[in-house]
Amino acid sequence: MAKNRYDVGDLGAAARGKKRILWADQDMPVLRRVRERFERERPFQGLSFSACLHVTAETANLVRALKAGGAQVVLCASNPLSTQDDVAAALVKYERIPVFAIKGEDHKTYYRHLRAALEHKPVITMDDGADLVSMLHKEYARLAGKMIASMEETTTGVIRLRALAKDGALRIPVIAVNDAATKHLFDNRYGTGQSTIDGVIRATDMLLAGKRVVVAGYGWCGKGVASRARGMGAKVIVTEVDPIRALEAAMDGFEVMSMKEAARVGELFITLTGDMHVIGREHLRLMKDGAVICNSGHFDIEIDIKSLKRMAVKEERNVRNYVDAYTLPGGKRIYLLGEGRLVNLAAAEGHPASVMDMSFATQALASEWAVKNRRKLKPQVYDVPKAVEDWVARLKLSSMGLHIDKLSKEQERYLSSWQVGT
Ligand SMILES: NC(=O)c1ccc[n+]([C@@H]2O[C@H](COP(=O)([O-])OP(=O)(O)OC[C@H]3O[C@@H](n4cnc5c(N)ncnc54)[C@H](O)[C@@H]3O)[C@@H](O)[C@H]2O)c1
Repeated sequence: MAKNRYDVGDLGAAARGKKRILWADQDMPVLRRVRERFERERPFQGLSFSACLHVTAETANLVRALKAGGAQVVLCASNPLSTQDDVAAALVKYERIPVFAIKGEDHKTYYRHLRAALEHKPVITMDDGADLVSMLHKEYARLAGKMIASMEETTTGVIRLRALAKDGALRIPVIAVNDAATKHLFDNRYGTGQSTIDGVIRATDMLLAGKRVVVAGYGWCGKGVASRARGMGAKVIVTEVDPIRALEAAMDGFEVMSMKEAARVGELFITLTGDMHVIGREHLRLMKDGAVICNSGHFDIEIDIKSLKRMAVKEERNVRNYVDAYTLPGGKRIYLLGEGRLVNLAAAEGHPASVMDMSFATQALASEWAVKNRRKLKPQVYDVPKAVEDWVARLKLSSMGLHIDKLSKEQERYLSSWQVGT
């Protein structure tokens, strides 16, 4: 493969990357079943796919499944810090997949890589945060007419795409994979919950027991992080803007307060809101010496890093890997992890394979559904069909050796009637 057909950090790391991919594969039985069927049925024969996802071992297994189905896949990163360089190299070397992704790439390279993915002229795109679809609308609108659909993997991406649809500007059908129960109930909650804590610990080596941990946002991701932090003995405080979710956090037994109150007492702050400047100048001013701040929401906008840099009298990069120290006037130090980008992917390995098994099996099957229904799809945001969710959930249960009951005819009748049993 010619060098300009891909752009990865270190092709020499391919053998290590292959081991990681195979290790993850062991924990992805549902996706493996999908791959085996795709191999036989070739539902994507000859179709071009461009995927803009976190380039991890789990994503590599999704790409292998798509390729097994006959797709010609190109992969680029959905975040400059989330790429596993050895995995990117293995995909190029052993799977002959053109990958455009280097961990730590600058802004210009990141967008050059997105363009390379679109130059592939995809008919299906996969996004984690809607960057590819956004660029398609702005710079590659000529591709829209031939597109079958785009899959969107995360909450922030679905919000952006629904906003595009609301403005009447969406030009392609979109499948909201994030909104499938088999994705956000497990990936966002248990995946982000565990891997965010993992990222914090790998970056800082801090003891969570007894720490006051502030979790901003009690959505699916926030619930996961809050419960995992509590499980490790932290005293967890939740901040919210939604009264229902705040109430839910309170009744789940967490302390609920405003960020202004939390800023004075917190020792570790984790944002997971999908919103901007959740930790702003006014909060940074109030924080204690030694406070650690990080983000696990999609974009690096949840912490107002520009203000932090402007307020600081001294900035020390990499006091530890993925830890930058900012000294504020008066000598107080604040530690920022992973440059404010997704800490679970920047400082750890992202979600465990077992949970990505469900997300990516859902992605792969949603793509197949889109291809089968291509003539019917319109430029709007679609949900993943319930049959896909049920199939993924049943197979996951069976892979875990778990059995569930089946409704009897009598129970079915009762549950669908207003007359029986009253
Ligand atoms: N780190 C990862 O690997 C990963 C995985 C999945 C999703 N995400 C991202 O995490 C973010 C959250 O996703 P989710 O599925 O939990 O979304 P969600 O919509 O379920 O939850 C977000 C919550 O944040 C709250 N919120 C909004 N603004 C706030 C503010 N200023 N202060 C406090 N709370 C505020 C909302 O009320 C909501 O309850 C998104 O950006 C999503 O794309 C990251």
